[in-house]
Amino acid sequence: ASTTELDISGLETGQAIKAVFREQPVFVRRLTPAEIEAADAVPLSELRDPAALSDITQVGHEDVLVVMGVCTHLGCVPLGAAEGENKGEYGGYFCPCHGSHYDTAARIRKGPAPTNLVVPEYQFTSDTTILIG
Ligand code: FES
Repeated sequence: ASTTELDISGLETGQAIKAVFREQPVFVRRLTPAEIEAADAVPLSELRDPAALSDITQVGHEDVLVVMGVCTHLGCVPLGAAEGENKGEYGGYFCPCHGSHYDTAARIRKGPAPTNLVVPEYQFTSDTTILIG
């Protein structure tokens, strides 16, 4: 299918899930208040690919981070979406292939990846359902 519907009613704060969209992994994370605060505390001028968390998430759902699980360097699947995985030095996602570190808003902070993890087109069809694509 060209779209993916996800029920995130069971997604607890601090948890992430992996899904599949157009045969590629997609990560959905419900951010903790500390993760949101960490993202908001970073001056945009310090970012390689400047974007505020509020540009990355959707209005009314600022705690739900939806990104493709595809490193923007050479396409490996970053770690951090599953329990106990290495989230990297900035607490978001970590690509072990060549060491790219993404922060709690999935923005590139260290390593060779040129840009943030890509946000797919998606919409909330209810408070607990996301339609990707
Ligand atoms: Fe992720 Fe190279 S593919 S760091």
